[in-house]
Amino acid sequence: MDFVTESKKDNILKNDALGIAKIAREDKGGINATLGIFSPLEPFSFLEGVSSKLQIKQKYGYSSVDGGEEFRKAVNAYLGLDGCYVVATPGGTGAINASINLTLEKGEDLLIPYPCWGPYNNMAKGLSLNAIYYNLIKDDKFDLSDFIKKANEIIDRQRRLVFIINDPCQNPTGYSLSNDELKELFNYLNNLSVPVSVIYDLAYLDISNEKRHIDRSFLDIKVNDNVNILYCVSFSKSYQIYGQRLGALATKNEEFYKVACFYARTTWSNCNNAMINVVSEVELNKEIKKEHIEGLEKIRSELIKRSKIFLDEAKECDLNTIKYNGGFFISIPCSNNKEVYEKLKAEHIHILPVCNIVRVAICGLECDKLKGLAKKIKKYIKA
Ligand SMILES: Cc1ncc(COP(=O)(O)O)c(C=O)c1O
Repeated sequence: MDFVTESKKDNILKNDALGIAKIAREDKGGINATLGIFSPLEPFSFLEGVSSKLQIKQKYGYSSVDGGEEFRKAVNAYLGLDGCYVVATPGGTGAINASINLTLEKGEDLLIPYPCWGPYNNMAKGLSLNAIYYNLIKDDKFDLSDFIKKANEIIDRQRRLVFIINDPCQNPTGYSLSNDELKELFNYLNNLSVPVSVIYDLAYLDISNEKRHIDRSFLDIKVNDNVNILYCVSFSKSYQIYGQRLGALATKNEEFYKVACFYARTTWSNCNNAMINVVSEVELNKEIKKEHIEGLEKIRSELIKRSKIFLDEAKECDLNTIKYNGGFFISIPCSNNKEVYEKLKAEHIHILPVCNIVRVAICGLECDKLKGLAKKIKKYIKA
């Protein structure tokens, strides 16, 4: 019996990070560096307090489709912007998926970085789009010339451009564009004569070494009328509420906001009301926000410690790593990543093979478990 339509039959999760993480979790006592979850996972001290003060309806009633006026203000405050229309989404994933869905027609091209977070490619596949890759880093810098080359080719074909940028602390590399690199990128986009949708994946906004959790001015980008920035916010990492599923899609374009509301209502309907109210309270209350920033600061400094251990040891044993500016992951280029994954798994060490690299989630390993890891990985790497 054919219950699934022909075009969807091949949409099966293969080598998905959540599946690989499940295998790692089942290996009790093993080293689990698979997933982008900060460990130890401890709720910020203010979270339970704010959440316990919510009224029954704020917790268990439906939220409005877009999350409501306070949430709109809160997301603008979170981004350090004003005037954005906002739609609540189930995580950053929901925001990215909606952005792709609403800006491209079947068969069109979506431009994404290489290497990148696995679900981008699958989202394109699920929506019958072509994923086209731009090379993210060359000689430790943003590879603008490859981006422009790929973008121009797409524009020639479809007279519009939709692309994803994941910044700062890109997954999987940990690369962050400098202010100058961002300026050059938007300078190119502003001078195009076709519509450009920038899907700006900000999943790791709050943990960058450039202190972007405090200074959001880099997000206030001047764009021409042809450019629409779709800010894809994830509260998973910023609030350490991964499983609560809350994110937001923010845009200055009213028409986009309206179709995003329709999309939301007809897919997930509305989002986690309790978390919408928690985020609204925290972002709009200076005292609690201060506590939030202090909590983020602790995570950030712990990540700096962990990355130093891994990168110093990598240098000592001559293990090549991709340029890392901060964040949850460090990546190692290699041509045999599946083999490296299997061999390390046999030693109860779990990392993630993705694109032509293996990704080490330093967010998941405390310092003692990170020690010696670079050397163990090095054993199996082919350049
Ligand atoms: C690059 C990137 N974008 C977006 C997300 C979305 O996360 P969530 O849907 O939990 O907000 C993640 C989570 O791992 C990510 O790594």
